[in-house]
Formats: sequence, structure tokens, C-alpha cells
Amino acid sequence: MINIDHLLDQMTLEEKIGQMTQLSLDTLHTGEPMKIQLPPQLAEKKLDYIVRERMVGSILNVTSEYLPELEEWHQIISRIQAKAQETRLKIPVLYGIDAIHGVNYCAGATLFPQPLSIAASFNLQQAEAIARVTAYEAQAASMPWNFSPALDVGRIPSWPRFWESFGEDVFVNQAMGTATVKGYQGEAGDYTKVAACLKHFTGYGLPLSGIDRTPAWIPDRYLREYFLPAYQTAIDAGAMTIMVNSGEINGIPVHASKYLLTDILRKEMGFEGLLVTDWQDIIYLHTRHKTAPTMKDAVRISIEAGIDMSMTPFDTQFIDFLLELVQEGSISEERIDESVRRILAVKAHLGLFEQAVNNPKDYPAFGSETHQQLSLDAARESLVLLKNEQNLLPLDKAANILVCGPAADNQGALNGGWTASWQGDMAEEALSQFDTILEAIKRLHEGTLEYRIGVNYSEEVDFQEAIWKAQEADYIVLCLGEESYTEYCGDLNDLYLPDHQINLALALVSTGKPIILVLAEGRPRLISKFADQIPAIVGAFYPGPAGGQAIAELIFGDLNPSGKLPFTYPQFPNSLIPYDHKFTEVEGVDDTIRFNPQFEFGHGLSYTQFEYSNLQLNKKSYTPEETIHVSIAIKNTGSKAGKETILLYVRDEYASITPPVKRLRKFKKLALESGAEQTIHFEIQPSELAFVGLDNQWILEAGRFELMIDGLSQYFIIE
Ligand code: BGC
Repeated sequence: MINIDHLLDQMTLEEKIGQMTQLSLDTLHTGEPMKIQLPPQLAEKKLDYIVRERMVGSILNVTSEYLPELEEWHQIISRIQAKAQETRLKIPVLYGIDAIHGVNYCAGATLFPQPLSIAASFNLQQAEAIARVTAYEAQAASMPWNFSPALDVGRIPSWPRFWESFGEDVFVNQAMGTATVKGYQGEAGDYTKVAACLKHFTGYGLPLSGIDRTPAWIPDRYLREYFLPAYQTAIDAGAMTIMVNSGEINGIPVHASKYLLTDILRKEMGFEGLLVTDWQDIIYLHTRHKTAPTMKDAVRISIEAGIDMSMTPFDTQFIDFLLELVQEGSISEERIDESVRRILAVKAHLGLFEQAVNNPKDYPAFGSETHQQLSLDAARESLVLLKNEQNLLPLDKAANILVCGPAADNQGALNGGWTASWQGDMAEEALSQFDTILEAIKRLHEGTLEYRIGVNYSEEVDFQEAIWKAQEADYIVLCLGEESYTEYCGDLNDLYLPDHQINLALALVSTGKPIILVLAEGRPRLISKFADQIPAIVGAFYPGPAGGQAIAELIFGDLNPSGKLPFTYPQFPNSLIPYDHKFTEVEGVDDTIRFNPQFEFGHGLSYTQFEYSNLQLNKKSYTPEETIHVSIAIKNTGSKAGKETILLYVRDEYASITPPVKRLRKFKKLALESGAEQTIHFEIQPSELAFVGLDNQWILEAGRFELMIDGLSQYFIIE
């Protein structure tokens, strides 16, 4: 392997700063960034300037409105890497991409459920397998750096990136994040695959307004207990890179925070990898956050804070300003060396010095049936049956059905953003071979079926006709929700579903026909204006291209649902309270105004029944060093085979900081045949029950705790 210190010794300052710079692929194409001529053509002069002369160390992304095939990616990246070989030291370029649910910027790649759906499956083996396949397909496309997983912890349901997270719970984010990192990178120390990039460090998921990239106010104690743990476990699992949060916390833009990026991330948490900015975020210190009076100040502040690489992403002024800052002595060359060493280490670990371009032919399983099968299995496990009064579902395949609603017949509703394009607006075209919900229902259905959209995402279409057709149907499958979006493009003023969707639901309710509501959405859009009158509700939180098929299978009973909510589904806009709230949020003057969600965290029905019994702990009292052994029996008492996730919660009865009503501490998913029973064991270290105290240190206070699984509970003491 390459000797990094030796290489660093040979590098000029310009070469080093080039390595710290990341530009968008658009800058290498003919035309202006964001206005590239289509089909895109790499411009030799731009390659010469950016890769050979300025020696830019990393290129990212895809040209908007154009989805390259695998072979085209091979050509693009081969040309970029060939240009890097023309430089004095022949340092390969690190290509980075947002392959957040499969290699979503490459035609024909296998796309998977989005992270929120993966969380709903509570299936860690599957999450790891998905990441492994994604890494394989990313390697096929010579993309060794993946800006995923997002470990933002979605605590604000209106936030437009809620679905990019693994939901509201810290432990689920830790477990899913670690599984994903292992899948991308292999086990810690085995850096043969793709580099993961944890994002967006940290606190990005808690903008006070719910609007993307707006101020967060997060006390240190809360930051440490809720927003750092998922990063810590992923760092411990060997995550090679991290991206910074574009927002501000407590008045300091995170890109300017030496406290967060160096004191906490490097010194306390022990992160030794590469820290990249988010999109244009150094520029934003000057133009948006207004903490840097000039661009040059912005560069200095972010380097002093601790960033290693700037996603500039459209120009090279970062290089010029940083050069000036070092030449005039404001930034030391040692500081530059620290960052370059980390960048070169990632390139070396990924084996890019030996082989920067892979031959797609060496990856015959790219987009294969086996990979697609994994996507279908994952979609199946991700669906959450939220309501099923009088066992309305599953429907008879011969039933007379009306399908309607804006989500019924489009791929955007199943895939969300980062699908073929940033906003997912090319999904329909790119994924046309996959069934929408409507197409999949038609495929399985054997009776009379009518389709009237009723309303699309912005207005009424054949609203009245839909209502007439409803009168003739036995059942209505109403598909509501959100089309694709991400980042600020999905900002909201109102968490309720749009009025015209609510009106359609109410009008259909008034026909008296039983309605099966499918919610295809990236966050819990409120449905309380009509939910009580809907007997069956299915939650689909971007289950991916195979989601249509999985939903149809669930509706007709070919699939027994097993997903559970990885977030609290609120009922009212002024009551966006997570499951691990404080007691004061439940015990009030009027309980209906406090914690009173539509559906609770962990909720999810099955077509079979599971009975829990015999919850046992090995002791009644533990020292802080003793392991708590828990066992519980679970039986499938229904008539169908099914899967169930066991959720283990612990409540600290009294603590010096107001304790939450409960916290999820373990989970396990298992499959049980009808009539089968199994005993499951969990081990908990008392340290896992600690919290962050007033002095910002983790503490475990002695006292009584309650352990809860399903309706059962046991008390124990920590001495
Ligand atoms: C997003 C990141 C993403 C980056 C590169 C930014 O706008 O916030 O999540 O990785 O773009 O595409």
C-alpha cells in the first residue's frame, strides 16, 4: 500500500489544497453548471483545468436531468481518472455520490426502500445486505464514496428530510446506521469496499421551525444523548468519512464550529477520518449565515473549525483563498497536512492508487434478479399495517374495487427524492418497468376494477366521477400522500395532507363504502380530519420500486405485513411529541391535548396474532457491572405464518434529569409459523441505561427501573 507520509512530503502546497477541494461533475461538462447541454459531454479543457492544473481531489454527483447508464459512468470516471494520471503525482480522484437507496444515479441499478422504510422493517440483516449490494453496484460504477447513511434522527416530522433518516429513535438509528456502514465498508478495519459518509454531523434533524436548514437550539446535554450516539457507534464500526450539517446550532453554523467539529468529533469521539462540508457551505458562512464578512474569512473559519474537504462545488476560489491564507501565515501548513493525510488515507484504504476504475463486466450481478429480489423482500418488510378494523383486509381478489388518489399510479410516491435525479422527478421514466400501486393491484386482482385519480398532487381532476364510481364499488383503495421531494424543496407550511386530498377522502367516506387508505409519503402527513372513518390504513414510507407489488400483495393477503412505525404518527399539528417524551407531556389538564398520537411509535399490525408471555429477568437487583439477562416467550397464535419485531423498552423511574416515559433499548425481529413459539433472550448492560447529566457526562443513577415488552413488565434495581 502507498506510503502516505512519503507522498505528502513530495506534495506542493497547491497540490495539497487541490486535494481538499471537491467539485460537481457539472463543472467538467460543456455548458454552465445546472444548465448543462444534454446529453452531457465532458469538456477536455475543463478536465485539463480542474483535474490536471488545479489538481482537485474529489468530484461528486451527476448532471441533473440526465441518468447515465453503467457504461457511460465507466467512461466518465475513466476519463476523469485518466486526467488525474496526467498530474505529477498521479493521485486518483475520489468520486462521491448520494447512493442513499441503491445507486440511484445509475440507470439499471437496483433501488431499495428509503431509510425510513428500512427502519420500519426493523430487520438489521436486511439493512446490511442492502448496503452490501449498494456497495457492489457502486463499485461497478467506479463510485467508491457514498454520502450515506444519514444519521440525523428525525425528531421533527415536518422536516423534509425526515424519510432520509431511520426515524425518531436513537437506538434504531444506531443499530441501522451501524448495519449500513458494515454493509458498505465491510467489518471495521476491512476497507475493501465503498467508503460510507455519515451525515449531517450533527443535530440537522432538529430545526426548530421544521424547515430545512433553519436554526436549531440544542442544549449540549440533549445533543450528546440524542444526536451523537448514532455517530459514535458508526465511527466505532469504522465509518471512514463524515459530512457536516448545513444548519446552525445555538447561533453557530456547524461549519464554523470548532467546538463540534474538532473538540467533540475528533477529540472526544475519536473520529480520524475525512470530514467533508455539505454543498456550498463554506460560501454560505459568508452569504447566508453572515458570520464571515468575506469569502476568505469563510474559508479560514471552516478550516480552523476542522473541515478537511470543501464541497465548493462549482468553482475553485476555495483553493485560491486557502493558498493565500497559508502563504500569509493565517493557517499553518501542518493544519493542511492533517487534512490531506486523512484524504489520502481514504483513497489508499479504498485501493484507488492501485485501481481507480473498475470494469463493469467484473460485476455481473449489477441490477440482477437476486438484487431485485432483495429489494422486493425489503419493500415487503417495510410496509406498516396501521389499522384494520373488523379484519377488512385482506380483500378478496374477486372484489369489485375502485382505486383512486394521486399516489396510485406513479413511482415518485414509492421512491421519493434521490431517485434518478435529486428531486426524484425522473422516477416515472427511469422506473417504468416496475409496477405502480395501481398496476400491481391490476396484476393480482381478479374482479372488476375501476381507476379514477380524483385529485392529483396539486388539484382536483375527475373528482366527481371518482365519487360516482365509488358508489358502484364494494371497496375503495384510496392512495394519498406525497410526491417526491428532498431538502428545502419539500418544506411545508402545513403538516396536514393538502386540502384537496382531504376533500377527496371525506367525499369518499360519505359514500359509506369501506375504504382502504394507502399512505405513500415521506413523513407523517396528518389525517385526523377523516382517519376515524377509515377502517383500514397501510403506511408506505417510500418502499422503493417494488413497493407497488408489495402493497398489492398486502391488500390481497399474499403478504402478511410485519413493519412497525419507527416514528410517532401525530394526530394534530400542535402535538408533535415523540414516543420518548417526558411525563409532563402526558399527565395534563386535558390528556387529549398532550401526547395523543394517531399511531404510536412501534405500532404495526399483522394478519396473525402474537402473544407474549413469561417475561423474566435473571435477577431483581444488579450492580452497574452486571449484565441484565432478559427472556420472553412469543407465540404465533393466529392461523398464518408471520414476522414480529419484539421491542424492549426501559423506564428509569426517578432521575436527577426528568426521565423520559420510556426508551427503546433492544429490538429483534423473528419469523414464526402459525402455532410456533420461541423464547428470545436479550442482554442489557446497565451502562446502556445511562443518561447525560447536568454536567454533560453520562451517568447511571441507582434506583428502580421498569422493563417493558408489549403489555408485560418487570421491575429491577440498579444498585
Ligand atoms: C445534501 C447532502 C448531499 C449533498 C451532495 C446536499 O445538498 O444536503 O445530503 O450529500 O448535497 O449531493
